[in-house]
Amino acid sequence: MRIAVVGATGLVGQKILEVLEERNFQISELYPVASERSIGKEVVFNGKKYKVISMTDAINLKPQIAIFSAGGDTSLKWAPEFAKVGTTVVDNSSAWRMDKDKKLVVPEINAVDLTKEDKIIANPNCSTIQLVVALAPLHKRYKMERLVISTYQSITGTGVKAVTQLENERSGKKGEMAYPYEIDKNCLPHCDVFTDNGYTKEEMKLSNETKKILKDDSIRVTATAVRVPVVGGHSESVNIEFANDFDLAEVRKILSEAEGVIVQDNMETNEYPMPKYAHEKDEVFVGRIRRDFSNPNTLNLWIVSDNLRKGAATNAVQIAEFLAKNKLV
Ligand code: A2P
Repeated sequence: MRIAVVGATGLVGQKILEVLEERNFQISELYPVASERSIGKEVVFNGKKYKVISMTDAINLKPQIAIFSAGGDTSLKWAPEFAKVGTTVVDNSSAWRMDKDKKLVVPEINAVDLTKEDKIIANPNCSTIQLVVALAPLHKRYKMERLVISTYQSITGTGVKAVTQLENERSGKKGEMAYPYEIDKNCLPHCDVFTDNGYTKEEMKLSNETKKILKDDSIRVTATAVRVPVVGGHSESVNIEFANDFDLAEVRKILSEAEGVIVQDNMETNEYPMPKYAHEKDEVFVGRIRRDFSNPNTLNLWIVSDNLRKGAATNAVQIAEFLAKNKLV
């Protein structure tokens, strides 16, 4: 397989290279792409150095798959150019996610819907991916009616600039700010930009993308997304109201059998998911499984995953693996 990684110098791009290598994805040629200012720089893949090339050079090389993680504007402009030469684009940005002609894919849930005609495939937002991986099997069994979500999101979701801001604050250096405030020893109830309804874009992504992936517009979703000075992953407190009542033992069984999910839930031993331990793992960790005693048919969960892995790179690579395995490219 000939593969382009667009945004290869960024946090997610670097993680994509790492995941491709780890999973032994069969690559005959690798084309790393970044902005004009990085052309000629080197990235390392499988112990070999590769020079970063321009977008046009990569398009001319007609890769079979291009995994994009270079921001929404770059995707809007360039993904169709790759598609025109027959490349299938797996895009990490928000550019195409809500486009009704594009599929929004979490392999455990809906990769089976993919066909050869899908030339631009959207990877969902990081906080949505971990949410739906855990909730899809519960939705199937008990039908979710309403979700109330609060997130505790890693700074790595904002990119290299945010990691630098935190490091600068911790070492007392001055530098460019990724956020409007200091992030160390702080939490900002502000992920992505504000929209007209008072929610942030990140909060609206959780609502809109969840409904699209689960193919159910009737689920009501409200979220508060918070940035915290954490590196390893995103955490989510989720309150789920079902149409049907559930049995807690069965909920645990469904979650522990769900693909990509690991249950960590034992109050006797203080076992629960934490971003420090989800870091560098590909699974979604679920714990604090308990009935909401304040409302009927309602469950509380704590869901944690490495946002750069399952939330971005791993999910995109799994889509690419599905395309390769099923000869869709
Ligand atoms: P560059 O390193 O040349 O700026 P992050 O979100 O971690 O900051 O990474 C963003 C990634 O997207 C980087 O690899 C960056 O490359 C790349 N990128 C940004 N703008 C463009 C663009 N216009 N064309 C191609 N790649 C881009």
